[in-house]
Amino acid sequence: MVFSGKRILLIISGGIAAYKSLDLIRRLRERGAAVRPVMTKGAQEFVTPLAVGALAADHVFTDLFSRQDEQDVGHIRLARDCDLVLIAPATADLLAKMAAGLADDLASTILLATDRPVLVAPAMNPHMWAHVATKRNVRTLRDDGIRFVGPMAGEMAESREAGIGRMAEPLDIVAAAEAMFDDSPKPLAGRKAIVTSGPTHEPIDPVRYIANRSSGRQGHAIAAALAKLGAEVTLVSGPVSIADPIGVRAIHVERAEEMRDAVLAALPADIAVMVAAVADWRVASASGQKIKKHPGESIPTLALTENPDILKTVGHHTMRPKVVVGFAAETQNVESNARAKLERKGADFIVANDVSPATGIMGGVRNQVKIVGRDGIEQWPDLAKDEVAHRLATLIAKQFKP
Ligand code: CTP
Repeated sequence: MVFSGKRILLIISGGIAAYKSLDLIRRLRERGAAVRPVMTKGAQEFVTPLAVGALAADHVFTDLFSRQDEQDVGHIRLARDCDLVLIAPATADLLAKMAAGLADDLASTILLATDRPVLVAPAMNPHMWAHVATKRNVRTLRDDGIRFVGPMAGEMAESREAGIGRMAEPLDIVAAAEAMFDDSPKPLAGRKAIVTSGPTHEPIDPVRYIANRSSGRQGHAIAAALAKLGAEVTLVSGPVSIADPIGVRAIHVERAEEMRDAVLAALPADIAVMVAAVADWRVASASGQKIKKHPGESIPTLALTENPDILKTVGHHTMRPKVVVGFAAETQNVESNARAKLERKGADFIVANDVSPATGIMGGVRNQVKIVGRDGIEQWPDLAKDEVAHRLATLIAKQFKP
C-alpha cells in the first residue's frame, strides 16, 4: 500500500469543502495511512469532530489550550510526530496566517512548529483566490517550500459562481501526497519537457467550433509520467474535462495556433511529446458574429485553411529538443503511415495507434500502441493509458543515457 506506515496530520479548516475531507480520510486510510485530524473552529461549523474522528479512528484535536490534549500529546509533538502535514481544505485565512507566521490557534501553531513537509489543498471563493493578497501569500508559501494541490476550476458549492477555487478532488489530493513521499529514481531530473494534449477547438463563429473526440487522457498521463521521472514539464492542453496532472505547469489553449504559440514559447526543451489531436484545418475566416439562419437562403459553406503542424515545426526547429515524439492516430495502414510520419515530421519516435471506433481508444482509458523508431518497431500489449505513459517516459529517459 502506498502509505503503509505513514502518519498524516490532516488539518481541516473552515470551508464547505470540509465535507470532502471525510472522503479524503477514507481514501488515505484505505491506502495504509494513519490519519490524525486537527480541526479549526471554522471547520467544526461544517463537519462534526464526531464524524471526522470516527472516520479517522483517532482523537480529533481542536484546541490549543486543551489541558488534556496538551498533557497527552501536546502541539509540538503533533507538529513533529507525522510524515506529512496535509491541509484540506485550506481557507484564505489559514494561508494568510501561514504566510505571516501567525500562531493563534492549534492549526496555525502546528504549522509554525512543524519541520515536516506540508501539502495544501486550498478551497475558497474564486474572488478570494484571485485576490492579490492571496496570490502574494501563495507565492510566499511556495517559496517557503510548501506544496499545493489545486484549487480547481468549477462551480462553487455555496453559490452559483464559477471560477478557480474548488478544492481538488480527494483522489487528486491523495496523488499529490503520494508524490511527496516518492523517492523513486529521477532519471529526467534537470530535463525540460513539453507535452501537448487534448483536442483543439477551431471556432466557426462565437458559439460554434470544430472539435474531435480526444479526451486528453493519454497526453495528460504522459505529462504526469515525465514529471514522475523528474522532468520539468510544460503541458499545453486543449479544452478537456480532466484535471491538470500534479506537478506539471499546465497552459490551457483552445485553437491550434494558440497551442503552437505556447509550445514555441516553452522552447528550449530536451523533450517534446506531441499528443494533442490538433485539428488539421480551421475555418478560413471565422465569423465575429453568430451565423444566423435565414429561411429560404442557401446553407452556408465553411471554407477551411490548414493549421500549423506543431509537431513538424518542433521537429525541424533550430531549437529542436533532443527527443521528439509524435502520435499517429490512424484507422488503416497504421505502421506504414507512422513510418512516413516519422520522416516527414522530424520525430524520433511515433506512437502509432489504431483509433478505429471499434478499438474504443479515442476517449477510452486503455491503449494499444506500436512504437515506431528510427531503428525499428515495437508492439506494446493492450495497456492502461497510464501504463503506456510510464513506459514511454522510461523509453524517453533511456535516450539520455550516456
Ligand atoms: N500534430 C501537430 N500539429 C498538427 C497536426 C498534428 O502537432 N497540426 C501532431 C499530433 O500531435 C501528433 C501527430 O502530429 O503527434 C499526428 O499527426 P496527424 O495529425 O496524424 O498527422 P497528419 O500528417 O495530419 O496525418 P494524416 O493526415 O495522415 O492523418
